[in-house]
Amino acid sequence: MPAGKHVLLVVSGSVSAYKALELVRLLRKAGARVTPVLTAGGARFVTPHVLQAIAGEPVHQDLWSLQGEADVGHIRLARMADLVAVVPASADFLAKMAHGLADDLASTVLLATNRPILVAPAMNWAMWAHPATRANMASLTARGVHVTGPNDGAMAEAESGPGRLAEPAEIFAAIAGLLAAGREPEARPLAGRHLLVTSGPTHEPIDPVRYIANRSSGKQGHAIAAALAALGARVTLVSGPVALPDPPGVTTVKVESAREMLAACEAALPAEAAICAAAVADWRSAGEATQKLKKIPGEAPPPLALALNPDILATLSRHARRPALVIGFAAETENVIANATAKRQRKGCDWIVANDVSGDVMGGEDNTVHIVTASGVEDWPRLPKQEVATRLAARIAGFLTA
Ligand code: C5P
Repeated sequence: MPAGKHVLLVVSGSVSAYKALELVRLLRKAGARVTPVLTAGGARFVTPHVLQAIAGEPVHQDLWSLQGEADVGHIRLARMADLVAVVPASADFLAKMAHGLADDLASTVLLATNRPILVAPAMNWAMWAHPATRANMASLTARGVHVTGPNDGAMAEAESGPGRLAEPAEIFAAIAGLLAAGREPEARPLAGRHLLVTSGPTHEPIDPVRYIANRSSGKQGHAIAAALAALGARVTLVSGPVALPDPPGVTTVKVESAREMLAACEAALPAEAAICAAAVADWRSAGEATQKLKKIPGEAPPPLALALNPDILATLSRHARRPALVIGFAAETENVIANATAKRQRKGCDWIVANDVSGDVMGGEDNTVHIVTASGVEDWPRLPKQEVATRLAARIAGFLTA
């Protein structure tokens, strides 16, 4: 943490708001100045008195305060710090941010700020998983808002799941990282560049009502598309059937089958990078029935002959208009690194993002990945998929702009 940095800390309403006090202590110990802004919900969980005492600065609460407006004013408050952190960020507050509401001091500050923003979400797992929150997070990350957590674990209401506020030390590290790197969300290193991302499963029809598919939510691929767009890239996202909103700021092409996905990818070329995060079905039915196959009592089930699908990653890697950087994914349940290294060579791509899917990665919020390149293996810690996407996008930007 560079000493002398100034953090504007918005505390919104969540039982975990008490952890913001520990974050303030860590920031001040590292030499940072902390200016607190407390929402009405936040004030239900921590008092302004304790926040003020620990921050050593007045707490700002009221948009309509004559005194506050005379002293600093909400626009200056929004711009006086090096970074704005929202800890904890409740579902309601994130929704306000996503939609640009400005009906209290904290939300007005968030709308008026031109500083990097970090949010640390905290809410019940069902609220975090709700499509409304997913869509809000997608639009916030697409706009360059940084996210830390939430973690998976016990909640105040005796339930457990992803939604628990990241620990103060983790949030501190995220803030320190952003401040140290001097990363501005306004920095758009990929501006003017076209990148291609595949995401989701493919559906391979057996007959008009049945299909072969892979288990894939598309969360990781969609998050990567959003993170690349946040760095200024023009992104074409070729997506199989998913239950996710289209990431804002991204051109989404919806396909069903592997062959359609390949055609859409080739149509999207040229691109400077292709990130193949889709879980493409390896096989399709060799003879797709035009009518629904009938279950006839007493008769053996119809045989299902399979045909090999095109390998999109391998095709793009050897394409006449090959992107400068081609990235594949390897979902492995054992020998993760050895299999990923072999896959990198077999497919002809540049990097493989390898992950161990023996746990709850499929459809889950977190991912533990290893980046396998020609020069070795980089192990990343267990991270939310959003954060894997942000880091991968930064690594891609570093490669393309080097
Ligand atoms: O061979 P495997 O399916 O394990 O390789 C995974 C990687 O290859 C992923 O990046 C996936 O998107 C890509 N792939 C593809 N087309 C296929 C099969 C896999 O692009 N038909």
